[in-house]
Amino acid sequence: MSAQISTRAAASSDASRITAIYNQGIAARSATFETRPRRIEDLLPRIADDRYPLRVAIETDGAVVGWAGLSSYRSRDCYAGIAEFSIYVDASARGRGVGRVLLDDLVDAARSAGFWKVVSRVFPFNAASRALCRACGFREVGVYEKHGRLDGQWLDVVIVERLIPENLAGAAGDTSP
Ligand SMILES: CC(C)(COP(=O)(O)OP(=O)(O)OC[C@H]1O[C@@H](n2cnc3c(N)ncnc32)[C@H](O)[C@@H]1OP(=O)(O)O)[C@@H](O)C(=O)NCCC(=O)NCCS
Repeated sequence: MSAQISTRAAASSDASRITAIYNQGIAARSATFETRPRRIEDLLPRIADDRYPLRVAIETDGAVVGWAGLSSYRSRDCYAGIAEFSIYVDASARGRGVGRVLLDDLVDAARSAGFWKVVSRVFPFNAASRALCRACGFREVGVYEKHGRLDGQWLDVVIVERLIPENLAGAAGDTSP
C-alpha cells in the first residue's frame, strides 16, 4: 500500500490539511501534551522555515494524508545538529505504511539538511509511534518520569533518538554538555 504514497516538501497550500491532521492528534490525547487546537496561521511559519524541513505524504490523487516535520531541539550552538521531530497521519490512513514512508523521508531530509541526530519523546502507551520509531531505526534511550501533565494527569515519556552517521564526521561545536 505504501507504494501508492509519495512525499514532498509542504507548501503553504497544504496548511489547512496539515492543521486538520495535527488537530486530530491533539484531540486524541495520545500523541502530545498539546491541548490547544492549532490554526492554519500557526502552521504557516513552520512551513516557510527553511532550516527545519516539513514534509507531507500524498496519495496518488494528491490528497495530503500525513505530515512530518523537524523543529529546534535547543538554542545552544553545540546542539545545532540535533532536531526534534513530529509526525501525524490522518486517522483514516493509519496502519498501512504511510508513517513509515514519511519518517524515512524525514530522516533523509534531516540528513540533507546536515543534522546528525533526530530525537523525540513518545508516550509509553503510544504503541503505533513506538513501533514506527523502531521500524525507522530509532533507539529508545530511556524514560522521563512525569514529564508533563495532560488533562491534569502526570505522564511519562519515552525518549527516542536516531543518529545520522553520515553527518557526524567533521561536526563542529562546543563539546561541553
Ligand atoms: C504513529 C503514526 C504516525 C504511525 O503512522 P502509521 O501510518 O499508522 O504507521 P505505519 O502503518 O507506517 O506503521 C509503522 C510501523 O508501526 C507498526 N504499527 C502501526 N500501528 C500500530 C499499532 N497501533 N500498534 C502497534 N504497531 C503498530 C506497523 O506494524 C509498522 O511496523 P513494521 O514496519 O515493523 O511492520 C500514526 O499512528 C499517527 O499519526 N498517530 C497519531 C499521532 C501520533 O501518535 N504521532 C506520534 C507522536 S510521537
